[in-house]
Amino acid sequence: MAQQGIHGVWANRWTFVLAATGSAVGLGNIWKFPYITGENGGGAFVLVYLLCIALIGIPIMVAEVLLGRRGRQSPINSMRYVAKEAGLSSNWSAVGWMGVLAGLFILSFYSVVAGWALHYVFQTGTGAFEGATREVSQGVFGELLSNNTALISWHTVFILMTVGVVMAGVTRGLAMVARVLMPLLFVMLIMLLGYGMAAGDYVGAAKFMFSFKVSALSWDGVLIAMGHAFFTLSLGMGSIMAYGAYMPSHSNIGQTVVTVGVLDTLVALVAGMCIFPIVFASGIEPSSGPGLLFQSLPVAFGNMPGGLFFGTLFFILVSIAAWSSAVSLIEPGVAWLIETGKFNRVTANLVLGGASWLVGISCALSYNLLADFKPLFLANRTPFDFLDFLTAQVMLPLGGLFIAIFVGWRMAKAVMEDEMDAEGHPMLDIWLFVLRYISPVLVVIVFVMTLMNTFA
Ligand code: PFF
Ligand code: NA
Repeated sequence: MAQQGIHGVWANRWTFVLAATGSAVGLGNIWKFPYITGENGGGAFVLVYLLCIALIGIPIMVAEVLLGRRGRQSPINSMRYVAKEAGLSSNWSAVGWMGVLAGLFILSFYSVVAGWALHYVFQTGTGAFEGATREVSQGVFGELLSNNTALISWHTVFILMTVGVVMAGVTRGLAMVARVLMPLLFVMLIMLLGYGMAAGDYVGAAKFMFSFKVSALSWDGVLIAMGHAFFTLSLGMGSIMAYGAYMPSHSNIGQTVVTVGVLDTLVALVAGMCIFPIVFASGIEPSSGPGLLFQSLPVAFGNMPGGLFFGTLFFILVSIAAWSSAVSLIEPGVAWLIETGKFNRVTANLVLGGASWLVGISCALSYNLLADFKPLFLANRTPFDFLDFLTAQVMLPLGGLFIAIFVGWRMAKAVMEDEMDAEGHPMLDIWLFVLRYISPVLVVIVFVMTLMNTFA
């Protein structure tokens, strides 16, 4: 029997698409994708990432929505429910546990970067980038990184913003963000694309992003690309499962998921094509790391007509995109705490938001006070880099692997057909084939190859 949920239901399928897009489209597309593409040599990395989206991300996303809609609870209890239904151990709920933890870890560093974006709303708005060159924009970014008070304050503001919406209950409210502000963000990106074509090194950027040089890519790079496919689609940690739990029965999962996947990929590619023309034209290193977005776009805003207005609006929209993603990072844990019966939405948020805030302090300080704190127990990384690595490259792919194995190999086909409304549809068989024989095998191959190369 299909379950009833206690956390509410989306008004219709479109609300789910909007909310899932709100979760997917965020800093992963605009901040992370361009900088990891820059660090990993461009074209070959982008190609591997696209393959991972198609062969691993989309199939696993279908599986995750399916699990959520079947279980109708937090990822922890949904996994327990579907495992029980399949006559399996309740240990499968560990997938949900790992997801809740991954969400809190991601939120810790995510909110630091979102804090940078908030800071940039004011920097751009007050004209800090008027006529800016690369030196000016790099100077402003460097100043921010050396200002602990600003870093921690903005991180705090962002966590409070996130906790604020989740307290109100996510099935309300999010739709507006996705319906109005996401399209506006996309329009802004298209505009920046036009600027990059006119004033930047558009050809250099296109060559960098789309010409295939295998030599530039290591197995580490492949793992980063695969991990990013999970990160950018909000997969492997229960966010999409939690949102799937609020999805009305009998709405087409496959179509919905492909829509979200395509939109997310489009935003990432367009963001890259906005940033790299400016990177190359102003002599910024493509491999400059997490500061890439913040060092490059201000140069464009500082020199284009209306740049003060557009720049400010852009960073507002990026902050909002980050916000709608952050909400989905904390929702799985919040839903679970509520289900225990010991918390309400407000207290659950205070506990989890507080935990992420605390861990996030170490991330906020990772670029100054803790810049040289790279202990062995953090795999020789700063807290920021370690949490990014641990979640995107270990926890999310591992969670996704278990989800693929569960749905591909353990779930009764009748249950799937019931949830998918797709009895006998040929797409169902194609999807199931990929989910069984391709997605999990690729994840394992990438894990094994990276490990072998690390210890070789
Ligand atoms: N998908 C988001 C982004 O690309 O910015 C980040 C994210 C949200 C990752 C939710 C994981 C998640 F569960
Ligand atoms: Na994304």
